[in-house]
Amino acid sequence: MSINFIPMKSEHLNGVTEIENQSFPTPWSKMAFYHEVVSNDFAFYVVALKGDRVAGYAGMWVILDEGHITTLAVHPFYRRQGLGAKLMHELIDEAKRRRCTKMTLEVRPSNHSALELYTKTGFISYGVRPRYYADTGEDAVIMWKDL
Ligand SMILES: CC(C)(COP(=O)(O)OP(=O)(O)OC[C@H]1O[C@@H](n2cnc3c(N)ncnc32)[C@H](O)[C@@H]1OP(=O)(O)O)[C@@H](O)C(=O)NCCC(=O)NCCS
Repeated sequence: MSINFIPMKSEHLNGVTEIENQSFPTPWSKMAFYHEVVSNDFAFYVVALKGDRVAGYAGMWVILDEGHITTLAVHPFYRRQGLGAKLMHELIDEAKRRRCTKMTLEVRPSNHSALELYTKTGFISYGVRPRYYADTGEDAVIMWKDL
């Protein structure tokens, strides 16, 4: 079945939070996503749909000429099939359309799969924010990509 990438809407949020809860130690609530999608003018969120099922999603805030990636997750059933990379390219393409000149993100140093994916997508590590993640006290690796 083919994958469709479309902007996230409130009708997708049950599927999104199902994946969110399986993917992160401190998941965002459905309400947090709702605010992002409905009332954050700086936000862009995309879902990957297989049929009418949410298989993954990603989002960013566009601030001046920078795209700040806020989240990316793929349903465990659909991982290692190239979907994470495709979602990253959806964000990169949208950032270019909005005339961003660079993109940035934070990632846990223990998250090897995400680090590998971001490096493959052209992001470069530029240091750490010490004890950035409140839940585990882990540092965040800061990555940037020039567009
Ligand atoms: C990170 C994540 C989004 C990757 O999604 P995915 O659809 O499995 O990624 P892809 O299939 O597009 O993989 C692209 C590349 O990333 C790397 N990668 C992905 N998963 C990996 C893993 N488990 N181990 C090592 N490398 C991995 C590989 O280089 C892979 O290329 P390859 O398959 O040709 O070797 C997914 O594992 C996920 O949802 N994790 C939980 C949420 C999360 O950590 N999000 C990132 C927050 S910063």
